[in-house]
Amino acid sequence: MPPSKKSGVLRSVVRGMGSYLPERCVTNHDLEAMVETTDDWIVQRTGIRQRHVAAEGETTSMLGTKAAQAALADAQLTAADIDLIIVATSTPDYTFPATATQIQAALGITHGVAFDLQAVCSGFVFAVATADKFLRSGSHKRALVIGAETFSRILDWQDRTTCVLFGDGAGAMVLEAQTNAGTLADRGVITSHLRSDGRHRAKLYVDGGPSSTQTVGHLRMEGKEVFRHAVGMVTDVIKDAYAASGATSDMLDWFVPHQANKRIIDASAEKLGISPSKVVTTVHLHGNTSAASIPLALTVAREDGRIKTGDLVMIEAMGGGFTWGSALIRW
Ligand code: UT7
Repeated sequence: MPPSKKSGVLRSVVRGMGSYLPERCVTNHDLEAMVETTDDWIVQRTGIRQRHVAAEGETTSMLGTKAAQAALADAQLTAADIDLIIVATSTPDYTFPATATQIQAALGITHGVAFDLQAVCSGFVFAVATADKFLRSGSHKRALVIGAETFSRILDWQDRTTCVLFGDGAGAMVLEAQTNAGTLADRGVITSHLRSDGRHRAKLYVDGGPSSTQTVGHLRMEGKEVFRHAVGMVTDVIKDAYAASGATSDMLDWFVPHQANKRIIDASAEKLGISPSKVVTTVHLHGNTSAASIPLALTVAREDGRIKTGDLVMIEAMGGGFTWGSALIRW
């Protein structure tokens, strides 16, 4: 039965968060032995100190399943309560079927729907926005939104300009449709704003794929060019969220950006007038985990007590495509 709309509006309320990191942690010092780089360069240019790397045979769906189980436990729900699974990933287990269906099966769910969504580093924001539209339509009741990646598998480990930047991991969020008043004080996703511009393909892409090369390929990036665009794109979609909701930077409790580079995070917060004390940064711990970075950061800030029920949280990301987006969430 679809939830009844009663009076008020349906909102997608966060019921739980969870994450999973592969056991193996690779420090910058470990990388010094592999490519011509230094801990100092990586820390100065990116803020990254370490990243986790999946074990041989450990796949994206395995990471995503563990994150989903943790999120369900946090939500005090069981797999049977979920009728929608969206997995944001650019590193699926296989070309098909979708990683989401593998996670669905691993969780023992045989009802509802599961599918993948591909927006690279913006994937989690796109998946939250998509789940929100499903839940607010009344078609589904509870969603698992997962960002899961094994970027270590698509890195060129000889290329120091990219291999030091990325890591593996997964994070998951449980969203539930609840009837609410329809104001900024509501719990749930308040507004979301997604953008893309395919003209920027060559600045960040993978040089392989089933239809072009019949190989998996390696990540290629013009880092400086991506950096140059990132801050402007991010601030644009956050201003869109402010315009749609009436929120301001001062009203935010937490700013949880995609974790690619501490300099991008700091510059975005500064441009928006967001106090550094409200910025959640985990890039030093995880590196850039693409679609997994925001749910990993949200889980850290939730578990250490920073994000509390009722807090206003802005998530945002920018990545390959280019794609970029924001979502404003009252916890
Ligand atoms: O999540 C998707 C979005 N992706 C991003 O947001 C990444 C955006 N870009 C960045 O974060 C930065 O551009 C990087 C961290 C990738 C690079 O920082 P940068 O300040 O733009 O450095 P650069 O590319 O201009 O390189 C500076 C120097 C170069 O040497 P020369 O030409 O000045 O002699 C590089 O060859 O640093 C060199 N370099 C390195 N040195 C030591 C590049 N990579 C390394 C390395 N270790 N790993």
